[in-house]
Amino acid sequence: MYWAYVLDAFAEHSILIIALALLVLLLFSRNVTPSSDTRKPPGPWSVPVIGNIFLFGSAPHKNVTKLAEQYGRVFSMKLGSREVVILNDIDTVKEALLRNGSDFSSRPPLHSFISSSRGDRTVAWPVFGPKYFKNKRATELAMRAILDNAKHFSKIVLRETHVLIKSFLNSEESHFDPTHLLKLMVCSLQFSLFFGDKLRDACAKKAQLMMDGSTDFIENSAVGNSVDFMPWMKVVFKKQVQKLDKSVAELTDYVRKVYFMIKNDSELNTLDDSPSRRVITFNEALYKAVKDKGALNFGNEQFLEDTASADSNHFDDETLINITADCFGGGYEKLSTALRWAVAYLVSHRDVQANLRREIERVKGDSPLSLEDRNKLPLLEATVLEVLRMSSFLPFALPHCTTRDTSVAGYPLPKGTIVFVNLWACSRDPQYFDEPYKFNPYRFMDENKQNVVRSPCFLAFSAGDRKCPGEGFAKSVIFLVIGTLVQHLKLRNGTEDPIEDKFGLTVRPKPYSIHVDAVQ
Ligand code: HEM
Repeated sequence: MYWAYVLDAFAEHSILIIALALLVLLLFSRNVTPSSDTRKPPGPWSVPVIGNIFLFGSAPHKNVTKLAEQYGRVFSMKLGSREVVILNDIDTVKEALLRNGSDFSSRPPLHSFISSSRGDRTVAWPVFGPKYFKNKRATELAMRAILDNAKHFSKIVLRETHVLIKSFLNSEESHFDPTHLLKLMVCSLQFSLFFGDKLRDACAKKAQLMMDGSTDFIENSAVGNSVDFMPWMKVVFKKQVQKLDKSVAELTDYVRKVYFMIKNDSELNTLDDSPSRRVITFNEALYKAVKDKGALNFGNEQFLEDTASADSNHFDDETLINITADCFGGGYEKLSTALRWAVAYLVSHRDVQANLRREIERVKGDSPLSLEDRNKLPLLEATVLEVLRMSSFLPFALPHCTTRDTSVAGYPLPKGTIVFVNLWACSRDPQYFDEPYKFNPYRFMDENKQNVVRSPCFLAFSAGDRKCPGEGFAKSVIFLVIGTLVQHLKLRNGTEDPIEDKFGLTVRPKPYSIHVDAVQ
């Protein structure tokens, strides 16, 4: 699909492309230079205009990790005209994101961020400052509130997982790719957890169609990435960039519509009913979180003064809508990718699958799983961690940017330096993970295989100020979904081919097929 768009764009702009290619060659012949400043992180030679972007290839996470073997754990590359510093091991990532956290916690002004930033109203994209801090804190509080209502959370996830199990069993093909059904399930469960069940029949279908269409395009396009680093490509990829921007706008419009349907309907709007009523949706939880000034400012000492001045009306409808859209869109994309990986690992490691089933049978029998079972199901808990470690499907997190002149591993970095954290390499750091390329949930258990051992080196959700606020939500969903799948189904490979990965917006498994049988 991606190539179809690329060829399309190239056909349309062939003269411009040839002219640019000639320009590149001309400059290349005169101006190829290695980094001569010894105080700068080392890095490969770069070519004017495109920099080192060709070294990314079709598997940037693997190619960058190989380059780190040559240039060291901290090195720099030029992507288009922009210099990027890449951190490739756990110690350096922790030095930057934890020990000097606020120095590394902004986002750079890249196209995809600007197009989806909607001012300072989102969580993932704003520059580091008081407004970002408030949005992030409100998001964390809302996430925590819906997880606190563990019964309701588990009920929704289990209900949707049983729909998934039925669809698997009723599949017309004996071997099928589970991707589409997994995506539908994630969209439905997110709809219920974000907006409640009452609007489900009227609105959830539209969300499924929209998310399926737009993420397929975004995942396959990589256009956003190229334009981020070579802004002149906007001309070449005009149509694709417009489509990318349109899908972000479409998601926000959709969330806005649902938000106002709830707000303007006295039956649906239970927000002010009773302060003590337990929240059940993200929408409600966010609304309550932004009213709790004390909780909102907790941990915000560095920005307290600024926050007070930015306080007035910060959380208007548009901000709540944009935060919700960020989490709904980001959560959908990442959860469906995580579950695709989880099923892929389960079918290719049937010994682990059988042991998981034994653990669940022993502790739960046929009874439904719940989040309260976590301590009693250590292998399931450890499997969730191992799926996330192995897949590292957001291999460079989201781009970071330095907020002031700072340094890492002894290299000075000026304010505004773009920094990538190579989480994919960190998850495979041999200093901390034995046989890091092997899928082995037991690495997260103690010697007796009785308890989960939490590793401070587990970085799938990144670290520091920009750490993913959806960690608890994601781990809980994955725990309940894979536990319930294994409790009711035996999953096998449709083919014996090894499962390979494919780089897009996230690193996904290449299409694979499975066969399922009901557990008798
Ligand atoms: C399924 C597993 C998930 C993984 C592995 C994951 C991983 C990540 C990573 C690596 C980042 C970038 C952190 C950085 O830039 O250093 C991130 C950011 C973010 N994630 Fe997740 N995520 C997951 C699920 C979710 C879910 C379910 C939600 C919401 C419901 C969510 C919401 C966000 C948001 C809003 C940000 C931006 C945070 C910020 O800029 O401060 N994520 N996530």
